Amino acid sequence: MNDLQPIVDAAHAAFALAATPADLENAKAQFLGKSGRMTELMKGMAALSVDEKKTRGAAINLAKQAIEAALNAARQALADAELAAQLQAEALDVTFPGRKHGQGSLHPVSLAQERIEAIFGSMGFDVAQGPEIEADWFNFTALNTPEDHPARSMHDTFYVEGGSATAPNLLRTHTSPMQIRYAVQHVKKYRALAAAGSTNAEQLFSGAMPEIRVIAPGRTYRVDSDATHSPMFHQVEGLWVGENISFKDLKSVYLNFITTFFETDALKLRFRPSYFPFTEPSAEIDIMFETGPLKGRWLEVSGSGQVHPQVIRNMGLDPERYIGFAFGSGIDRLAMLRYGVNDLRLFFDGDIRFLSQFGS
Ligand code: PHE
Repeated sequence: MNDLQPIVDAAHAAFALAATPADLENAKAQFLGKSGRMTELMKGMAALSVDEKKTRGAAINLAKQAIEAALNAARQALADAELAAQLQAEALDVTFPGRKHGQGSLHPVSLAQERIEAIFGSMGFDVAQGPEIEADWFNFTALNTPEDHPARSMHDTFYVEGGSATAPNLLRTHTSPMQIRYAVQHVKKYRALAAAGSTNAEQLFSGAMPEIRVIAPGRTYRVDSDATHSPMFHQVEGLWVGENISFKDLKSVYLNFITTFFETDALKLRFRPSYFPFTEPSAEIDIMFETGPLKGRWLEVSGSGQVHPQVIRNMGLDPERYIGFAFGSGIDRLAMLRYGVNDLRLFFDGDIRFLSQFGS
């Protein structure tokens, strides 16, 4: 017995020194392996008598069990230490205050656009969208602005790849191309319905076609940049074409829109003679607030006019029969006036301190 205890003690000491599972397995081999110390002791029993084998065997077994128990304890201690280290490394303090994610809100220009869509929607206008990369035909030529027309220089155009050498594609300089795009679709659709003998009375205007009544909001582009001009800006096009749509309708629709948009009747509206190739006559629409910080100043908010007969023709309609008005207003300008913003560039800087003031 006496000669066994030091071996057990040595095993304890060796296992305690092992810093990794591999160290521990090496230490184990020294005692319990094929040529380990305990195995050697067992081999040494061969020479003993039967009685001696009994007592010696029992003693060796006890020592072996003690070493195995020490080994298991050491294995467990290593596993516990490993887990503790891992937990430490991945420690998460759940009592720490969380990082807040801002609530986010619509951009003031989007808010203005939503308002515009809701107001015109309530007056029976459809809302249409069109491409920002536009063909020369839709942006200029179809709008009665042929290639050599001096009015083309009114727009500082960004040209892009595509199109033809004489008529390259461009970033639309206004939303007016949507007049043509929408009207052509509309006319095509109702011509097809009429050809198919549609008798849906609700859809039919004058027995053939419902009026064209649409707004088209969206991004527009011009080479221009200062406190009131941005190379990318927003417009909303308005178009109403029927058999008897006059300037009177333009005035009532626009006045209705603008008083609803600004939530006040205390404003005046005036038409100022102007020129656009695609309207005749043409006018700028100015408004003047009768109260508030902008009181007493005429502010230009829109171009407008009666749709030019050539444009009506390019829509696929007979100008002897169809007539209407169009307008194009700056959405950013309307948003600036509504929210009291004096520098257009603030809308596009993406500064959260500015934008967060419009959360609703
Ligand atoms: N497209 C014109 C502009 O951008 C505005 C306009 C639209 C004028 C429709 C008349 C009719 O300046």
